This record gives sequence, structure tokens and C-alpha cells, in this order.
Amino acid sequence: MDAVLDYRTIQVSPQPGGFGAEIRGVDLSHPLPAAVLDEVKAAWARHGVVAFPDQPLSLEAQEAFTEQMGGFGVDPYIKPMAGHPNVLELRREPDEKAPNFGAGWHSDWSFQETPPAATLLHSKVVPPVGGDTLFVDAARAYEALSPAMQRMLAPLRAIHSAKQSYGSKGVFSKDTEKRTMQIIVSEEADASLTHPLVRTHPVTGRKALFVSPVYTVGIEDLTPEEAKAILGFLFAHLTQDQFIYRHKWREQMLLMWDNRCTMHFAEGGYDGHLRLMHRTTVAGDTPV
Ligand SMILES: [Fe+2]
Repeated sequence: MDAVLDYRTIQVSPQPGGFGAEIRGVDLSHPLPAAVLDEVKAAWARHGVVAFPDQPLSLEAQEAFTEQMGGFGVDPYIKPMAGHPNVLELRREPDEKAPNFGAGWHSDWSFQETPPAATLLHSKVVPPVGGDTLFVDAARAYEALSPAMQRMLAPLRAIHSAKQSYGSKGVFSKDTEKRTMQIIVSEEADASLTHPLVRTHPVTGRKALFVSPVYTVGIEDLTPEEAKAILGFLFAHLTQDQFIYRHKWREQMLLMWDNRCTMHFAEGGYDGHLRLMHRTTVAGDTPV
């Protein structure tokens, strides 16, 4: 990773290809001065996924940084931590057999009218094997499409719903194994709404594919067969190795990603080991 030198207060080391970066020279345990916050926001917009290593943070410090990034998003379907209504504890015990949380490609809460701009995940206990988080650069994936395909997708609106996960017949409603995280299955989750299939990033102006296998269930005005064919192509296109950054965790690392131009997948492979993370989200805008 080469350091980019045009920052005055922070050090940014991008991944090869520029998707994903590590940020040093910042202390997230205290409120960030305006100039530092501006640079962090700029690096985040540029690289999509930013990691801050060696940040032993209290819940309060993570909450305060989330507020500085734009205020809390709304987290449905999972019981938050006691006394911390905006923090989810992602905890998987060594003896858990249920599939790990987040094991499917998605952009967080994309079924909301205003899905979260960012998700912040802080690692407390990292298993010795497995547990990587994979990210797709959905902007670069869009840019790699032919102009003809881009034109075809431009007017389309994708249908998003939480039903496949949190709905009355969703994956979590069929959980038979013990799970530490308290997931709230709901008929409310069966609802759906539409967002532009290609969305424009409000900061960078870049267009990105905004669909995922977990939350996108169709395309408005197309038959189910037509939607299935196009979405199937897009999911296969998005998840090619060339668009993926594999994030390897170390303890006391904060990771912040942009849900507006990425999707992610939480890998398992750590049965027999505890994994513990704290998650907050930053409120976002209506996708356009
Ligand atoms: Fe997620």
C-alpha cells in the first residue's frame, strides 16, 4: 500500500486499485477537529471502505464519531445493546452453529427509504481464522458495463425488501440453531419499495449499481423472469474478483464503509471461536 500525500492531517494508504484504504494519524477516541474530519470524509468518499487500525474505542467514542459523520441511522430487526439504542452487538459464540450474520451480499438496510450512508464496525474480538469481510466496488462494476447496458439500466428501479431475511417466511424465521444476536422477525419486513437501479453518489457524483442478492427482489415494470435474468447477470458481474476487496480484521480496528457504492459479505469459517464487533450506522439520503 502506498501512502497518498495530499492529506495534511492524516495518512492514507490505499489498497491496490484504490478501493479500500487504511487511515492512520487520527485518534477516534476524541472528537475530531473540523480539518481532520473533512480529510477523513474525503478519504472515505474516495476509497469507499476505510480502516482505522489500533483504535481502542469505548461505545461512547464510537457513538460520538458516528454522530460526527452525520448522525445515526435507524436499525430495525435486531435488538440493540442495553443502554445504547444505536449500537448493535455482532456477537457469535464459539459454540454457535447458526450461519454467521451477514453471510450474503448486501448493502445495509437498502430496503429503507433512506438507507444508511455508512456502517461503522469496531472489532473487539477477532477469531484466529475466518471472519473476513468482503466488499464489492459497485461504482467500478457499473463503469465496466458497456454503454449500451448502462443506457438500458438507467431508467430502471429495483425493488428492495427485507422479506428474504427478516420477513415472516425469511431466513431468520427458519433459524433452528441457537443464536446470540436477538433478531426480530416481522411481517413489516415483507414490505417493499423501489430505488434507482443505478444510483449517483451525492459526494463524488459517480454512478454505482445499487442491487444485491439479499435485498433486491425484482425490477419495477419487468416480469419476474426478466428481472431474474437481469439481476442474475448483475450479481455475477458485481461479485467478480476484480471488483472485490477482502478485509482482514485485527482487534481494535474501526472499519467504515459507504453503503451507497459498495456491497459486502461477512465470511464465516471461525466455528469454535468467539467473534465480537460493535456496529453503528450513519443516516443517509433518498437514493437518486
Ligand atoms: Fe451488512
